[in-house]
Amino acid sequence: MTENKNINQMWGGRFEEKSSDIMEQINVSIGVDKRLWAQDIRGSIAHAEMLAKQNILTKDEAVKIVNGLNMIAEEIKSGKFEFKTELEDIHMNIEARLREIIGETAGKLHTARSRNDQVATDFRMWIRGAIDELVVLIEAMQGVIATLAKKHANDIMPGFTHLQAAQPITLAMHLDAYARMLERDKGRFLDARTRVNQCPLGAAALAGTPYPIDRDFTAKELGFDAPMPNTLDAVSARDFANEFLFTCAQCGLHLSRLAEEIILWATPQFGFIKLSDSWSTGSSIMPQKKNPDAAELVRGKTGRLNGNLVQMMTVLKGLPLAYNKDLQEDKEPVFDSYDTLSLCLQAMAGMLESATFNTEAMLNSAEEGYTTATALADWLVMNLGLPFRDAHHVTGAIVKMAEDKSCKLNELALEDMQSVHPGITDEIYEVLSIKKG
Ligand code: ARG
Repeated sequence: MTENKNINQMWGGRFEEKSSDIMEQINVSIGVDKRLWAQDIRGSIAHAEMLAKQNILTKDEAVKIVNGLNMIAEEIKSGKFEFKTELEDIHMNIEARLREIIGETAGKLHTARSRNDQVATDFRMWIRGAIDELVVLIEAMQGVIATLAKKHANDIMPGFTHLQAAQPITLAMHLDAYARMLERDKGRFLDARTRVNQCPLGAAALAGTPYPIDRDFTAKELGFDAPMPNTLDAVSARDFANEFLFTCAQCGLHLSRLAEEIILWATPQFGFIKLSDSWSTGSSIMPQKKNPDAAELVRGKTGRLNGNLVQMMTVLKGLPLAYNKDLQEDKEPVFDSYDTLSLCLQAMAGMLESATFNTEAMLNSAEEGYTTATALADWLVMNLGLPFRDAHHVTGAIVKMAEDKSCKLNELALEDMQSVHPGITDEIYEVLSIKKG
């Protein structure tokens, strides 16, 4: 093959002039997509083996290619591989290096394949792995919550509506609500995984390939459930990336709600939680401060997770079939959401695990907030047969009385309550005080 050094060696056959510098800069993706290297090599090995099995390559050629690819994997792992921007992306970097190692045979690897089905395959494998890792981190965080919930099964706190003390609940119940949210996030990830796990390989550029390839073989070899039936769809679909990004955003949003509560609970005004020193920061000017920065960052990073989803959806809107270079913009948001969410899950788990809850303050707050008022109204309905609306009214008057006397509901004298409703007996104290256990 004759070569003009200035022209792209991978696709420059019909080109006479070299790319402008800015063209190269806008086109290059290696800085981002080098993270696909392991998937790219794995995909190429499966493809080469399939080509040999189908007698499209000789056995010897395939062995040479596979050995070369394994060498490249070692080079990348040990940090010896030189990623070159003039080779655009990970696929061409690896193929060019293969050529340096095994010579002309390297050019046969791309038989019956295009970068379009290649990149979609790599990307799906990468997201599949990311899902599996995120699910492990979600489960770890659920484990932390389960341990805390067990420890605080009988510890009372005020449950809130409108951020006003509403009814007494247990800390376990409150924390468990987040474990349930995380369980649904896990379900969403696993559900998305089934649609990620379809193999585009064999679609080639868009219309398939005339070679007698075996798509079932490569799909199986790479751990996919099946080859994708429509080749246009195989190279252009990215809804799997959107689903991944949405689920990251949704999970991050759940963490952000918990982060917000931790931030509130850590204020001296609430005093419900004390964060460990290793999960807080100080202020350079105000010595008394201990700030819940990790929680604030988790809350703040939700913006990034939402942004990544919007970015990808916007890239896809209005893209005609099949592959368009716009699609190269798909990796950065996905990598960033993965990095961000895995960091957030670990930060929240670490922060919670090392925190101490001030159960006294929680109980006091529940008592001071008249949180047994609803139980009082229910007692009036169940024992005196009052219509609920009337019971609500009577209870309101009793709460007002406690407020005027600056006391808790269970500190009111029976006669005082009887002056509001004569039917009330001393059994009422059973529901007015918060029972532990
Ligand atoms: N780097 C490209 C991407 O991520 C690979 C596919 C290039 N395909 C093409 N027809 N130029 O999308």
